[in-house]
Amino acid sequence: MNKKIALLLLTFQLLTFNLLIADEGMWLPMLLKNNYEEMVKAGLKLTPEQLYDINNASLKDAIVWFNGGCTSEIISERGLLLTNHHCGYEAIANHSTAADNILDNGFWAKSFQEEKVNQNMFASILVRMEDVSDKVNKSLASLGADAIEYKKQEIFKGIIAEATKDTHYEGIVRSFFKDNAYYLFVFEKFTDIRLVAAPPQSIGKFGGEIDNWMWPRHTGDFSMFRIYADKDNKPAKYSKDNVPYKPKKFLSVSIKGVEEGDFTMVYGFPGRTNRYETSFGIELATSKINPAIVALRDIRLTAWKEQMDKSDSTRLLMSSQYAKISNYWKYYIGQTEQLKRLKVFEEKKQTEVAFSAWAKGKPEYENILTNYSKAYTDYTNYALHSTYIREGILGCGILSAALNYSNLEKVLAADAKNENEIKKATEKITAFNTNFYKSFNKVSEQKILAKIIQMYYENIPANQQPACIAEVMKKYKGKTTAETFEKFAKAVFEKSFVSNSQSAAKFLEKPDGNKLRKDPAYAFVKACFDNYNKNIDSHIESFNIANTAEGNKYIRGLMAMQPEKKFYPDANSTLRLTYGNAKSYSPKDAAHYSFYTTLNGIMEKDNPNEFSFTVPAKLKELYKNKDFGNYADKNGDIRVAFISNNDITGGNSGSPVLNANGDLVGLAFDGNWEAMSGDIYFDSKYKRTISVDVRYVLFLIDKYGGAKNLIDEMKIVQ
Ligand code: ARG
Repeated sequence: MNKKIALLLLTFQLLTFNLLIADEGMWLPMLLKNNYEEMVKAGLKLTPEQLYDINNASLKDAIVWFNGGCTSEIISERGLLLTNHHCGYEAIANHSTAADNILDNGFWAKSFQEEKVNQNMFASILVRMEDVSDKVNKSLASLGADAIEYKKQEIFKGIIAEATKDTHYEGIVRSFFKDNAYYLFVFEKFTDIRLVAAPPQSIGKFGGEIDNWMWPRHTGDFSMFRIYADKDNKPAKYSKDNVPYKPKKFLSVSIKGVEEGDFTMVYGFPGRTNRYETSFGIELATSKINPAIVALRDIRLTAWKEQMDKSDSTRLLMSSQYAKISNYWKYYIGQTEQLKRLKVFEEKKQTEVAFSAWAKGKPEYENILTNYSKAYTDYTNYALHSTYIREGILGCGILSAALNYSNLEKVLAADAKNENEIKKATEKITAFNTNFYKSFNKVSEQKILAKIIQMYYENIPANQQPACIAEVMKKYKGKTTAETFEKFAKAVFEKSFVSNSQSAAKFLEKPDGNKLRKDPAYAFVKACFDNYNKNIDSHIESFNIANTAEGNKYIRGLMAMQPEKKFYPDANSTLRLTYGNAKSYSPKDAAHYSFYTTLNGIMEKDNPNEFSFTVPAKLKELYKNKDFGNYADKNGDIRVAFISNNDITGGNSGSPVLNANGDLVGLAFDGNWEAMSGDIYFDSKYKRTISVDVRYVLFLIDKYGGAKNLIDEMKIVQ
């Protein structure tokens, strides 16, 4: 076949292939009208205005951005919020002590008075969104690439200030399609968010890291909170006089359940995807960056786990930080594995070949891939270093805590000392330290410091390393490299005031710049950062600028090349909707996974010797007595979780899964192993959303927690 025809055919195949995918795409609710017909075909029974309306209450008003990283939904007229257990984990862990251990035992508020107040939590409800591309572009028109990034933030601020003038609203402006469009989002941000209910983690985190990111799954991954507002229903900081928030809209809860093929849509705040990533980026991720993140996190997780296994009180203190990094530790293992298995590199290369052929002779597009390739050639030498700074140096508790003192050093060194500034800098560190030292475990942190700095020494090119590493090699020379760094870490922990809360507090009482500069933890971390800022950062910066500039043109080019295709923007923590159907799948040859799991599977997995699989006695009893209320399915089973082909990612955690009528049927909480490459490439054969069946949630609230008060508050649809 003629090469040109082959390429044309390939382009055509790519194009039609994409047109057929209904389940792929995280759509902006404001633009949903373009998808409406397809949604109806998939089973939707609502009008576009019921999904999203700027003038009247619609489903979108019940979807709440939870703490800036998860999604939650309002399920009663008194501001009751439902989200994942893993989204409430930090709050639940913070309230847990050996004496009142709600993380392990669960918590069910039987009245408003029993609800638990939290610090630093917030819930944001979208008021409106607006396309501000013209406004932004007009202001950017005359600027060069490096000025744009800085100037953009200023322009955003102006737009936000204007949009929120004379209101209590907050705003954000986000870039879409790599700066090909900009949207403004205006929020009402509530900060009095109280804990209402959580199952024990043996239910809410059943399966732990072993089952995480995998189907079949049996996790009751939910927790409940409530939004409180002032007497005028407006956001207010905590006060005992605050009252439950009265929402514009809340979701009805359906106990009809979901069957294979049923329409499902997920409304929420997906965090980040990189679907327009190039083959260059994938090569770098699979060969270097992902393995480094995993290896560096391994060190922390192993050292922490050793200590957590020693006592319940230590475990409770460290659980939250452990959960925070273990989730994405496993994510990067899975992403690497699936990028390779699904040949995503080859897939992207094909698209790039087709694109190059199309772009030939078009000055705006024809150099994009060559420019990308050049940018990556330089970046590849430095990218690992930046990963080691983020995941390694800052992964050492003592170094990240020490780095906090850099502003204090600056104000202490100023020619004209400003007592007020010193006081402010000191107070900021003190506030941080109060929380930090609660979970700072010296034994594990000393091991972490030794191992991570050794890895840094062994894996970062010698000519990129700060002089302090060579000094360690000289000063602490042991029989092996490992011994050298162990001696170094021991010395740091003996001599640095950052190594414990008392000496840190004592230093902060009378902060002294000379003492700070001589502190071994501070001096070391400062040397690492000075070196990074001086010798490495500029390479990362130029890559970022090139990456944004080429990415911007590449997406525009892809759109011009496939004018028929409906493009959706990458996730960026803004409200999106994805629709599809409940759907089983085949993970590999000869195997088939049903689309739902049941309580029977929990009993099958029960293992009293494995912390993550120990089924609580009360659940076993409910199971034995078949005490299921009206939450069982037609076979008399309690369904625990189900899968659908909706397109979600991190940040969607806690998102409502809605049926064709817009009623709540589930709570999205994870993705599946066979499609862990999903943030970069949507594979319709394998990609599934894993959700808790809302009937399992109701069963647990009612039968396990005995919190009938919460069931009565909801609107349940039979
Ligand atoms: N993988 C899930 C997500 O990112 C989080 C699951 C939390 N559970 C756990 N065992 N870490 O949405």
